[in-house]
Amino acid sequence: MPESWKQDLAHLGTDWEKPFLEKAPWLIVVFKKSYRLTENDKQLKNYYVSESVGIACGFLISAIHMAGLVTLTHTPSPMNFLQKILNRPENEKPYLLLPVGYPNENALVPNISKEKLEDISFWFEGRD
Ligand SMILES: Cc1cc2nc3c(=O)[nH]c(=O)nc-3n(C[C@H](O)[C@H](O)[C@H](O)COP(=O)(O)O)c2cc1C
Repeated sequence: MPESWKQDLAHLGTDWEKPFLEKAPWLIVVFKKSYRLTENDKQLKNYYVSESVGIACGFLISAIHMAGLVTLTHTPSPMNFLQKILNRPENEKPYLLLPVGYPNENALVPNISKEKLEDISFWFEGRD
């Protein structure tokens, strides 16, 4: 991680220690699949892979939340070792790691405000 990134994270208290990865009862590893293989080992390309997996992860995070559990998004770098230790094929690349469970009783969540809608959007006048 570049020093500037570490400085940006300093006020959040985020560092290299990730005890939640060992405590969480479930670790969901999401893979993206850039192509499929036919019975004759011919490669069939998948399209919009990152976009689709990102959308699917959003739904999964919402479902976890609705189930009364908590999660966070983790993208260790490098992440490819997960492909090896989980015996996944060459066409599946690790995309996201989601530890899932209940929060610690003393868990602290930073109070980060969202950007205002008017700061991230602009509107056209509607047609008559
Ligand atoms: C897309 C995305 C990827 C993230 N990847 C990481 C990561 O690889 N490592 C990390 O420490 N935090 C990552 N975060 C932040 C984590 O969701 C979480 O806030 C952080 O791991 C909390 O760690 P802490 O308990 O050390 O503060 C990511 C956040 C997002 C939105």
